[in-house]
Amino acid sequence: MSESIKPVSYSVSEQTQLIMAQHSNRSGRLFGGQLMAWIDILAGVVAFRHSDGDCTTASVDYLSFEKPISVKDLIVMHGKVTYVGNSSMEIRVDTFIESPGLVHEHANRAYLTFVAIDDEGRPRRVPRLDPQTDEEKAEYAAGLERARLRRERRKKKDSAEMAYPY
Ligand SMILES: CC(C)(COP(=O)(O)OP(=O)(O)OC[C@H]1O[C@@H](n2cnc3c(N)ncnc32)[C@H](O)[C@@H]1OP(=O)(O)O)[C@@H](O)C(=O)NCCC(=O)NCCS
Repeated sequence: MSESIKPVSYSVSEQTQLIMAQHSNRSGRLFGGQLMAWIDILAGVVAFRHSDGDCTTASVDYLSFEKPISVKDLIVMHGKVTYVGNSSMEIRVDTFIESPGLVHEHANRAYLTFVAIDDEGRPRRVPRLDPQTDEEKAEYAAGLERARLRRERRKKKDSAEMAYPY
C-alpha cells in the first residue's frame, strides 16, 4: 500500500475573531492567554485535518507578541502545517489585525508541535507533507532543523535534575 501524502493546502485553516470586553486584560488589550488558547485550537484543527484524527499539543516553541491587540479589534488567525515527522506535525499560526477595507497587519506568530494519537493516546503515523511552493519548501527545511533542535533540548532536559524545588 502506498504511503499517504498531502499538500500544505489540504489542511490550511483560518479563524476570524471579534475581540470583545470578556477577552481583555486590565489594560483593555487582548489577554495573551486567550490568544494562546485560540492559536492552540486553530493549530489543533490544522493537525486534525492533516492527520485525519485526534492529536495533542506537544510543545509551543515560538510565540511572540509583536503588536498589542485591543478590545474591538478584529483578528484573523491563519494556520498551516510547515513540517511533519513520523507522528508529529509542526504548525505555524500567524495572527493579523484586520482594519476596514480588509487591510491586515501582522501581530503575532507561533510554531506549535502536535502529535497524532490513537485511541490509547499513543503516537500514530501521519501522512507525509508535500511542500509545493518555494515558501513551503523553505519552511519545510527550516521545520526539519527546528525539529532537530527540539529533540536536542528534550535530551538535555531529560538529563537535568527535575526535582520540585520546594
Ligand atoms: C506528545 C506525546 C503524545 C508524545 O508521546 P511519547 O510517547 O513521548 O512519544 P515519542 O517520544 O515516541 O515521540 C513521538 C513523537 O512526538 C514528538 N515529541 C514528543 N515530545 C515532544 C515535545 N515535547 N515537543 C515536540 N515534539 C515532541 C517526537 O519528536 C516524535 O516525533 P516523530 O514521531 O515525528 O518522530 C506525550 O508526551 C503526551 O501525551 N504528552 C502530553 C500532551 C498533552 O497532554 N497536551 C495537552 C496540553 S496539557
